[in-house]
Amino acid sequence: MNTSFSLVRAGPDDLPFIMRTERQEGYDRLVGRWEEQRHRDAFVDGSHAYFIGCDGATPTGFVMLRFWNAVERTTLVRRVAVVNPGQGQGRRLLAATVARTFHETDVHRLVIGLFPDNLRARRMYEAIGFQAEGISRGSAYFGGEYRDELVMSLLRPEWEASC
Ligand SMILES: CC(C)(COP(=O)(O)OP(=O)(O)OC[C@H]1O[C@@H](n2cnc3c(N)ncnc32)[C@H](O)[C@@H]1OP(=O)(O)O)[C@@H](O)C(=O)NCCC(=O)NCCS
Repeated sequence: MNTSFSLVRAGPDDLPFIMRTERQEGYDRLVGRWEEQRHRDAFVDGSHAYFIGCDGATPTGFVMLRFWNAVERTTLVRRVAVVNPGQGQGRRLLAATVARTFHETDVHRLVIGLFPDNLRARRMYEAIGFQAEGISRGSAYFGGEYRDELVMSLLRPEWEASC
């Protein structure tokens, strides 16, 4: 059940949860992980916004956005990870984050770059309305190598039409 789901804007006090979640076993090849200082810098750089999904009082995952409320009106979904994958937590979390972003800012385009073989993530993005645009070659410097990313986006008119 998701009746007690809530989305909260995260702050530095949430760093232990965020850092624990991005370090879950098996996530190292799927998402980045930052040291504490880099997260702390992001919290105050005016560009990043973090959100946490909660089931009751229990945090279920986090989303990190970059270019929050940017004048260019494009916001990047920079990182998303949940505690218990494959149970709908990610879909609830990201759908709520997308809604909040469109409500609270003038953003026109939400964009994500994911590794093409991350089919679970792709399915989640598609379920929310993101569309695949194509492969961005060598765009992710990750674990010491340059990896391709699948670019997916969701535009405000598409999101509004789906509401
Ligand atoms: C990506 C992530 C946030 C998605 O959250 P989630 O809670 O696992 O996703 P959901 O359960 O809401 O949805 C996953 C969908 O993928 C499907 N799925 C699960 N495993 C799959 C697989 N191996 N191949 C294809 N689809 C798969 C599920 O059936 C579900 O689709 P449905 O809702 O149509 O049934 C989560 O899996 C996660 O934290 N992964 C590790 C970090 C990561 O990959 N982050 C994304 C980087 S871009």
